[in-house]
Amino acid sequence: MEETITLHDKKFRIMIPAEKIDEAVSAVAARINADYADKQTPLFVGVLNGSFMFMSDLIKKIEFQNELSFVKLASYEGTASTGEVKSLIGLNTPIEGRHVIIVEDIVDTGESIDHMIGELERHHPASIAVCTLFFKPGSYRKQRQIKYRAMEIGNEFIVGYGLDYDQLGRSLKDIYVVTE
Ligand code: IMP
Ligand code: MG
Repeated sequence: MEETITLHDKKFRIMIPAEKIDEAVSAVAARINADYADKQTPLFVGVLNGSFMFMSDLIKKIEFQNELSFVKLASYEGTASTGEVKSLIGLNTPIEGRHVIIVEDIVDTGESIDHMIGELERHHPASIAVCTLFFKPGSYRKQRQIKYRAMEIGNEFIVGYGLDYDQLGRSLKDIYVVTE
């Protein structure tokens, strides 16, 4: 693994090697396995693009029967009066009465996940829980419970393992942090 990398105009240094990520994914998968063992075919809903690698590794460690789907929050430039509108696309599985586990790459301020939960709640699932690879407790400012957090970090900006800096860095198997 490279110690430092450059993406666009910024330099990053190694922060979390792949083996440590794998340990964290295993630990969170074990908690989900325990909590959902008796539930009827839970549905994992990954938020694209950032969650694809986490979902891929997490789902291989899930021991109960499950279904999996990916969604995206698409931004539209609204009119001046409405501002930015974000709509949910890709939800082609009925989720009414289902146990849903949202899989995210990172929860920072919580704006995105708050919106995502709100959109999914409109379809009346039996339950919704969030499983995020990274949680930034220092920047989170929403009230919703983020039940499954594989790892917690400070307010630094990271890339790798699905997370990007302006679309670069998603394919890295380790996590890198920006250096000033
Ligand atoms: P939030 O809405 O503020 O919670 O931000 C969530 C989104 O911001 C994530 O889904 C990411 O796309 C992006 N994001 C926040 N922090 C980072 C980071 O450290 N690295 C890469 N993307 C990030
Ligand atoms: Mg994301």
